[in-house]
Amino acid sequence: MPLKIVRNDITKMKVDAIVNAANESLLGGGGVDGAIHRAAGDKLLAECRTLGGCKTGKAKITGGYHLPAKYVIHTVGPVYRDGTHGERTLLESCYRESLALAKKHRCESVAFPLISSGVYGYPKDQALKVAIDVIGDFLLENEMTVYIVIFDKAAYKIGEKLFTDIAEYIDDKYVDELTDDSYKRISINALTSMAPHKKQKKSDIDSFEICDCKAIFYEDDLDTKLRQIDESFSQMLLRKIDEKGMTDAECYKKANIDRKLFSKIRSDVNYKPSKQTALAFAISLELSLDETEDMLRKAGFALSHSNKFDIIIEYFISKGNYNIFEINEALFAFDQSLLGA
Ligand code: APR
Repeated sequence: MPLKIVRNDITKMKVDAIVNAANESLLGGGGVDGAIHRAAGDKLLAECRTLGGCKTGKAKITGGYHLPAKYVIHTVGPVYRDGTHGERTLLESCYRESLALAKKHRCESVAFPLISSGVYGYPKDQALKVAIDVIGDFLLENEMTVYIVIFDKAAYKIGEKLFTDIAEYIDDKYVDELTDDSYKRISINALTSMAPHKKQKKSDIDSFEICDCKAIFYEDDLDTKLRQIDESFSQMLLRKIDEKGMTDAECYKKANIDRKLFSKIRSDVNYKPSKQTALAFAISLELSLDETEDMLRKAGFALSHSNKFDIIIEYFISKGNYNIFEINEALFAFDQSLLGA
C-alpha cells in the first residue's frame, strides 16, 4: 500500500527516512522535533549545527543516528495565521521538498508527521488534506511507501461536515445483523450469476428470497452480462481497465496498490484478492455500486450493511467520490482498515 495512515510515535518507525517538523534554526524544539532529537541522540544536533538553518517550506537531510530510520529530513512548516498568508503553498512545499530529498537519497519508505498541525496551529483536517493531496500526486508518478504518522488519534480530524455526513449515513444504513429480510437486498446480478444455461435446481432459486429488490438496469444488456458471469476477478479487472482506457499503472496507483501485487494479479487468472484490494480496484475504476458488487462477488465477497467499512465505501461511491486517499482518511477516522495493499 503506497500511502498508509498509521497511529504511532514517528521515532519508532522502521523506515528509510522520517520527516521532522522543525523550526528555521534546526536546533531542536518541542513536539515531534524534541522527540526526534531525544531519540536520535546528540550527534543529530551536532550535524544540524552544520546546516546553517532551513527556510520555511524547504527541507534538509541528516543521518538518523540512534533512530531506526537511516535519515531524518528536517522541514519547516508555516505558522498558521488565517490561511490567507500563503500557508497552504508553504505547507505543500514542505511535503514536496521532503519527498524530493527522500527520492534523491533512494529512500523506499518515508514517514511524515502532520507538519504544522501542532505548535504552528495549522487546522488538523486541512493539514491532513494538504499532506494527502501532495503525497497522493507524488505516488502517481513514483514508487515509494509513504506513511502519515498520527501520534494523537484524538486530535486526528477530517472535515467536520464530512465526518457528520458519514456518521449519519452509517446510522441510516447500519443493521446489527441481517435478520430482517428487507435488508437482504439480493441484486439481480446475484440471480444471474446462477448461469441459466446450467440446470438450476428449484431450491437454488428459492434460496434467493427476493425482497425489496429494485429493478437494476444494466449498463450491459443481459446477454453481455451472462457472458461475463464466468470471468474471474482478474479477467474482469483487466477487461474494465481496457474499457476505461486506463493503463495498468494508472489503475494500480489510483487503487493505492503496489506494482508487485498488481503483477501477481495480472499473471494469475484465478487470483483471489482480499476484500480491501478488490474494493480498491473498484474505486480506482470508478465502478457503480452494482458493478462494484459484481467485482466483489468474483472475489468471493459482498457488501454488507452490517459492516461499517462497507457502508463507508458505499457512501463514497454513492457521492461519486473515488479519491482513494480521501476515502482512507475517512476510514482511518472511523477506525476501519484502509483501502489498498
Ligand atoms: N510522532 C509523530 N507525531 C508527533 C509526535 C511523535 N512523536 N509528537 C508530536 N507529533 C505530532 C503532533 O501531534 C502534531 O500533529 O506532530 C504534529 C506536528 O506538531 P509539532 O511537533 O508541534 O510541529 P509543528 O506544528 O510543525 O510546530 C513546529 O514546534 O516543536 C517545535 O521546533 C518545533 O518550532 C517548531 C514547531
